Amino acid sequence: MPQPPSDRTRLIRSATRKPTEGRRPVNPPIERASTLLNARAASLRDPSLGPVYGIDGMTVQRELRALLAEMEGGADAWLTPTGLAAVTIPVLALTRPGDTVLATDAVYGPTRRFLDRHMVARGVSIRYHPADAPADRIIAAMDGVRLLVMESPASLTFEMVDVAAVTAAARDKGVLTVMDNTWAAGLAFRPLAHGVDVSVQAISKYAAGHSDLLMGAIAVADAQVGRAIFNTIEDLGWHTAPDEAWLALRGLRTLPLRMAEHARSALQVAEWLQSRHEVARVLYPPLPGSVGHDLWARDYAGAAGLMGVVLRGGTEAEAEAVLDALTLFGLGYSWGGFESLATHETGQMALRRHPATLEGPLVRLHIGLEDPADLIADLDQALATWGVRSSPA
Ligand SMILES: Cc1ncc(COP(=O)(O)O)c(C=O)c1O
Repeated sequence: MPQPPSDRTRLIRSATRKPTEGRRPVNPPIERASTLLNARAASLRDPSLGPVYGIDGMTVQRELRALLAEMEGGADAWLTPTGLAAVTIPVLALTRPGDTVLATDAVYGPTRRFLDRHMVARGVSIRYHPADAPADRIIAAMDGVRLLVMESPASLTFEMVDVAAVTAAARDKGVLTVMDNTWAAGLAFRPLAHGVDVSVQAISKYAAGHSDLLMGAIAVADAQVGRAIFNTIEDLGWHTAPDEAWLALRGLRTLPLRMAEHARSALQVAEWLQSRHEVARVLYPPLPGSVGHDLWARDYAGAAGLMGVVLRGGTEAEAEAVLDALTLFGLGYSWGGFESLATHETGQMALRRHPATLEGPLVRLHIGLEDPADLIADLDQALATWGVRSSPA
């Protein structure tokens, strides 16, 4: 028996399958369609003939969904207009008034806003567990909960969850689980294989890879859970444009190569930052000694290039001066594209119910595909503005 193909191969082989007849381009066509015409009246509602209306998704959306489902090891996968919608749809689909949702206190900010504003207004109670809670504390907090929303590593502070331990307990307690797996891009970690019911990711980040589109994906193992999610997408009328899906499919073909390079460079940068006196801590699970390192080493096959950097002492204004001094890092939200980015994040920490104790301002870096030696040189000259105030006497 030949060994099963690796991710690199699996992401490309659907592009090279032979046409059933004649010739075809490697990439599927972009079909922009609302209306689809039929040969005869009897065909109008025949689902065996493919999409009935543009909202069902044309060739490119279908290929992308099939590839995502295969990579996630899921029964099915759906596209959503943004990564945020990929998180909010399962919460809407799987809860009813009177239910309780438990989430990490470090959940992505707009997810938190949706839970606190939209879901609370619809009679769903929201609880947050501390971002650094170990599995037994999360499990203890699950009593009476309908849905657990996990994000691992967590936004901004990169705490990791022991997903297999938590999902095993969730099954016993009848709690459904959703995991935002954007950092692992659906590749470095496979939530469904670790017992998660719904795996979601923002395709806008690494899968797209070029900072030029917004999209999310939802994958499920169980058909009944999938039906609830499909019904919600259908009822809300969500659709993902073929142009975006085409770009995302193109991005996916090279995802493993880009991720490996992001991870290699990010580790070099993280190690360098950790050695600097201006830096109190680097929050990057692949870095030995970092928050989440043990679980990352046990469960992950790769990494993203996104990390937190806690500066030692100082003010937000001084942190901003460091960011302003950077020449190779764009200053902007999001991550997962080819470019390096920097933001400062201390403001967002104020929303937390269990605030983390940080030694100074929190900066977030996305390490792109530039030469890491150049990025380190850039950080070196930018940190010089900070070094003036913080160098040991
Ligand atoms: C962890 C996480 N989940 C979801 C999202 C949402 O993705 P999108 O920007 O496509 O809505 C983001 C975006 O920053 C994110 O960081």
